[in-house]
Amino acid sequence: MRIVSIGGGPAGLYFSLLMKKSDPAHDITVVERNRADDTFGFGVVFSDATLEHVAEADRESHAEITSHFAHWDDIAIHYRGQVLTATGHGFAGMSRQVLLDILQRRCAELGVRLEFQTEASDLAAYADADLVLAADGVNSVVRSRYAEHFRPQIDWRPNKFVWLGTTFPYPAFTFLFKESAHGLWRVHAYRYDASMSTFILEATEQTWRRAGLDHADEDQTLTFCERLFAEELQGHRLLKNRSLWRNFPTVRNGSWRHRNVVLVGDAAHTAHFSIGSGTKLALEDAIALARALQRHGEVAKALAAYEEDRRPEVERLQRAAQVSLEWFEDAERYHGRLEPIQFAMSLLTRSLRVTHDSLKRRDPGFVSEIDRWFASRAEQQSRVAIRAAPPPPPMFTPFRLRELLLSNRIVVSPMCQSSAEDGTPGDWHLVNLGSRAVGGAALVIAEMTGVSREGRITLGCTGMYKPEHVTAWKRIVDFVHAAGPARIALQLAHAGRKGSTRLQWEGKDEPLAEGNWPLISASALPYHPYSQAPKAMDRADMDRVRGQFVNAARMAEQAGFDMLEIHMAHGYLLASFISPLTNARTDEYGGSPENRARYPLEVFDAVRAVWPSDRPVSVKISATDWAEGGIDFDEAVGFAKRLREHGCDIVTVSTGQTVPDQKPEYGRLYQTPFSDRIRCEAEIPTMTVGEIASYDDANSILAAGRADLCVLARGHLDDPYWTRHAAYEQGWDLPWPAQYVSVKGFNPRLD
Ligand SMILES: Cc1cc2nc3c(=O)[nH]c(=O)nc-3n(C[C@H](O)[C@H](O)[C@H](O)COP(=O)(O)OP(=O)(O)OC[C@H]3O[C@@H](n4cnc5c(N)ncnc54)[C@H](O)[C@@H]3O)c2cc1C
Ligand SMILES: Cc1cc2nc3c(=O)[nH]c(=O)nc-3n(C[C@H](O)[C@H](O)[C@H](O)COP(=O)(O)O)c2cc1C
Repeated sequence: MRIVSIGGGPAGLYFSLLMKKSDPAHDITVVERNRADDTFGFGVVFSDATLEHVAEADRESHAEITSHFAHWDDIAIHYRGQVLTATGHGFAGMSRQVLLDILQRRCAELGVRLEFQTEASDLAAYADADLVLAADGVNSVVRSRYAEHFRPQIDWRPNKFVWLGTTFPYPAFTFLFKESAHGLWRVHAYRYDASMSTFILEATEQTWRRAGLDHADEDQTLTFCERLFAEELQGHRLLKNRSLWRNFPTVRNGSWRHRNVVLVGDAAHTAHFSIGSGTKLALEDAIALARALQRHGEVAKALAAYEEDRRPEVERLQRAAQVSLEWFEDAERYHGRLEPIQFAMSLLTRSLRVTHDSLKRRDPGFVSEIDRWFASRAEQQSRVAIRAAPPPPPMFTPFRLRELLLSNRIVVSPMCQSSAEDGTPGDWHLVNLGSRAVGGAALVIAEMTGVSREGRITLGCTGMYKPEHVTAWKRIVDFVHAAGPARIALQLAHAGRKGSTRLQWEGKDEPLAEGNWPLISASALPYHPYSQAPKAMDRADMDRVRGQFVNAARMAEQAGFDMLEIHMAHGYLLASFISPLTNARTDEYGGSPENRARYPLEVFDAVRAVWPSDRPVSVKISATDWAEGGIDFDEAVGFAKRLREHGCDIVTVSTGQTVPDQKPEYGRLYQTPFSDRIRCEAEIPTMTVGEIASYDDANSILAAGRADLCVLARGHLDDPYWTRHAAYEQGWDLPWPAQYVSVKGFNPRLD
């Protein structure tokens, strides 16, 4: 086979040597525009030092590569005069030039032709090759040449960074955060041989411009950085090597192959330097492609198999890299707001791959420290002494909202059961909510409950609009209170334009086949094109509905509920005012974010005024509509600030369900980043909800300050005793009701 690799970086060289090794008859040329010893950058870091695939693929180069590794286990975070260190992370670094030397030597040894100082510009020159490898890096010319086939998407990230070296041998993977008059600077530094470290400096464009670096040449950049970090560098110098300020491009491609041309390494995909995986990805691409070619004789089949094999792994890593790069872009959000240990926890768990549990395995001392710190904060916040030693895992610490004391941080999310009779909850609701309260959650939120008969979503929804409802709810509330420490909240709502629909198992959001009732909403926009058009509310409608919320709140007090949640999410009536997608009003309730917030806040104030002052009120919001033209993050933060100013105690941060053509990005903890941001920027406590899969997720979220309470819907539906099982798995003693004390000491089989 005749193979040409355009580019002699890690991907091109490694693929070429693997192919030549598998069959010396292959005719392989690597075309590289640089000289052999002419590289950019300094060291590369491998976040996972094991490189198992590389060991299997070519033992010779693996042995040489690993013999040059500088190993270290620690991550050190320099934050406001403190250095926080977590150990057990297993990194390795090496010089990029040494890596290339090893691969070049191995290529030459096996008979790969290396053509340095050759720029591939006319691709027609390689037309007779059986396979053309586009290994020409992040700015791939091959990718541009065939852009209509590869369909590249390049996401230029806003921050500025520069890749420098230093003679300071950093003993750990080091993150430095430093404030100057210009703003906040972040450094990612790691050692790559006995005496040298990579030093990447990153800042927002604003900070970079304020420092005048938009006009700086390499030497001026160096002088500026040496001055800024004089104290940290302890007399060591910074070094340049084509050290120009850049923006990081996240590269993705619709396809990685076109006829006999295939993308590998950075040409196909990039992963931000903060997770140190680009080189490893490039090497793994080379392995996968070489294997696919060995397995499938035909190039077309092999390229398809390669892409199918690699894409999921690459995309998984790119998702982690995205969260990681966003964390660094948004570092101003956390810097100065979080205490040092929580800042460190937030940084370490940023990509969700490192968790409270995995950190505990790596560095039990670090996690004990964070647990102790968290428990002491919880003691102050809840005014409850925590006597346990060692302290409880974060999810089993108390939390206070006004005079409501929650015994832990787990909440059962409101979930419509579609089983009420004219709004009256019955035995199903008693068992459903009762068993979850016995199951260990500190707070159970009863389902979305209509403030009027017409305000229900379906005929099966619960309500709070007639005297019988108070009696029926009181039975449930009394049971919960008698059964143990769990508290119970009621979620009050009006369905708006999403009302008059079928039971959830008969067609969610689908209009009733017959017997529909008239709908109201912020504007006369139907949910589905075929749904009933609602009436745009006039002032009389607004007064009436506000009165219904007030009545329902009074009735909820009579029923004994501990807390109220007002539903302003998921496209229901109050949410329909907030989102520009559902609010087309031209009066003082439409237009600007302030106007769109006006009526929901009016309802909030009216409810707050009649609800006992010692009991909290939460509001559930959709922080994004996941649709073009909908609520954006800044607006959600703005709305949460307004809620705080109006006396809202805590915000439940959900997303979407405003419009049917939304494009949500589901996944583990997919809504938690929204909670994180609102909690930090709006400075209001939050509940996070959405695919919280494990107790480890809950502990990680809480310890890192991404929310104050963790809310589970389907998790607790699937397992009413989810919280008890989480306690058992963590060896935490959650007291049983008297009726069940014989369970103490019983070992459930949870596997
Ligand atoms: C600041 C920074 C820090 C990084 N840190 C790390 C890290 O710590 N760990 C890590 O694993 N990765 C890191 N990376 C990423 C890593 O450098 C790349 O992911 C990796 O080098 C990709 O290998 P590659 O072979 O695909 O591309 P490259 O290494 O970019 O190689 C492409 C080669 O193609 C050549 N070329 C380009 N066009 C042509 C042409 N027309 N004709 C001939 N030759 C051409 C180039 O000269 C180059 O040698 C970092 C990247 C940046 C920007
Ligand atoms: C059966 C069911 C009914 C739901 N009903 C409500 C509701 O009444 N009010 C509400 O705010 N959210 C409701 N939701 C949404 C959940 O409260 C929660 O926000 C969502 O399911 C994400 O959490 P999860 O990933 O833990 O399931 C419901 C979800 C389910 C699965």
